[in-house]
Amino acid sequence: MTDLGFVAPLRDALVAADFTYDRVAGDIGDDAHRALGRNETLPALRRTTSGSPLDTLVRLFLLQAPVARDHAERALPGLVDRLCNAGLLEQSVSEVAARTDCRPYATEDRDLWIVSDLTPGLDGAPVAVGPDHVLGISSASTSLAQLTMREPVGSALDLGTGCGVQALHLAGHADRVVATDVNSRALWMTRLNAALNGVEVDVRNGSFFEPVAGERFDLVSTNPPFVISPATGERLVYRDSGLPGDSVVEHIVRTGPDHLTDGGWLQVLANWSVVEGRPWDERLGSWLRDDCDALVVQRETLDPASYVELWLKDSGHHGGPDYTRRYDTWLSWFEESGIEGIGFGWINVRLGGSGSHQLLEWPYDVEQPIGPAIHAWGEAVTDLRGLGDDQLLETTLVARDDVQQETVGRPGAEDPEAIVLRQQRGFRRARTADTLEAAFLGACDGDLTVGRLLGALAALLERDVDELRSAYLPVVRELVREGFLEVR
Ligand SMILES: C[S@@+](CC[C@H](N)C(=O)[O-])C[C@H]1O[C@@H](n2cnc3c(N)ncnc32)[C@H](O)[C@@H]1O
Repeated sequence: MTDLGFVAPLRDALVAADFTYDRVAGDIGDDAHRALGRNETLPALRRTTSGSPLDTLVRLFLLQAPVARDHAERALPGLVDRLCNAGLLEQSVSEVAARTDCRPYATEDRDLWIVSDLTPGLDGAPVAVGPDHVLGISSASTSLAQLTMREPVGSALDLGTGCGVQALHLAGHADRVVATDVNSRALWMTRLNAALNGVEVDVRNGSFFEPVAGERFDLVSTNPPFVISPATGERLVYRDSGLPGDSVVEHIVRTGPDHLTDGGWLQVLANWSVVEGRPWDERLGSWLRDDCDALVVQRETLDPASYVELWLKDSGHHGGPDYTRRYDTWLSWFEESGIEGIGFGWINVRLGGSGSHQLLEWPYDVEQPIGPAIHAWGEAVTDLRGLGDDQLLETTLVARDDVQQETVGRPGAEDPEAIVLRQQRGFRRARTADTLEAAFLGACDGDLTVGRLLGALAALLERDVDELRSAYLPVVRELVREGFLEVR
């Protein structure tokens, strides 16, 4: 692969052109931006005709339109030949075209650029991706970026780094970042992107945890090649692990904790098989270790046919001559394997817990980024671990600010038929509550202990305090675990 001497001047050119996420969005406007999200370039082509360096870079890299050579020279001074040699551009006598994507990207506090392979299938062109295709920022990349906790950590691992997008995020809050992949093209692009964005990433070649044997990290964040497909011998490395079924995810979940520091988190964006006759949560629960806490969230399930269609479209086989044969082979394999659905979701594992495992089906809208809510779940589990019933009675709790109470019932009725407690933030959980639970929650302002509050409610409702404690302490625990209440 080429040396990266061109990276510093490339960065200078991108800065000089103001090639940032916000400027590009402003330059092309909302409609064209949305159209580009649908892989349609025409609206943006109509908005980028000035020949300015910014318009030229947008046309070249985002719209994959050839630009006049003098425009390219103005946008990338002294760089066109070097970028052609490096494989980022190609040129004819009068025109320059992109051979890779290079796009601005923004985290909450940083403007970044990401080089990856060209987005396939713009403007309805046939999708053609090679086996070593390096994915750019996909919806899965964004999901994992939003899932990943952003607390400052000493060390972080991005397993299956692709273009390095997760590693760049991790570099914002980890002192040391290691990124691994088996695709040498991906490793080259990650090195390039790290240099382009002025961050240090230790980029290593190798499969799964091999390149980090014997090492431990405070945070491992991974969007592995999780597509569940029959072993036909064909493999797109960005999505197919080469392992059967969902064993890539099982392998990562079972062995990942060996690479965590005590209290460290492994966060996996994943697909898993939903197997006939076995509840999904029982199956995934069997992968989780007793020396870890885990929060697994099934966000969505797809039936086998929808799943096959999704991924055959992704690889450009939809409408091709062998589409039905591929579709049939894949569906037959699902049937033979007893796979009746495919779950999509998040697996979060923390080493050093007491084996508190929660597996949750949660297809509802959540606040993004969701990482802080996962972290808060971990904090709540830690808080509860040390609290026997006696200690819990001595604890003061605070109701989260965003929790609202909704009542349901006939208009004008004195008592509600149901009370719903609903979070406005994080997972946006909702739970029905009886009047005592709602009154308890409402009274949790960090002043009185749980024991004093339950005592006061028992007196008010003329109920036996011991009976009320044994009925409601488990509810209080649930309210803490689900984030309605916090230990202060
Ligand atoms: C879905 S892509 C994720 C890319 C990037 N991390 C993101 O979030 O967009 C999966 C990546 O895993 C890599 N990969 C495939 N098999 C692997 C293996 N056995 N070990 C490590 N990485 C692997 C692929 O090359 C690809 O870059």
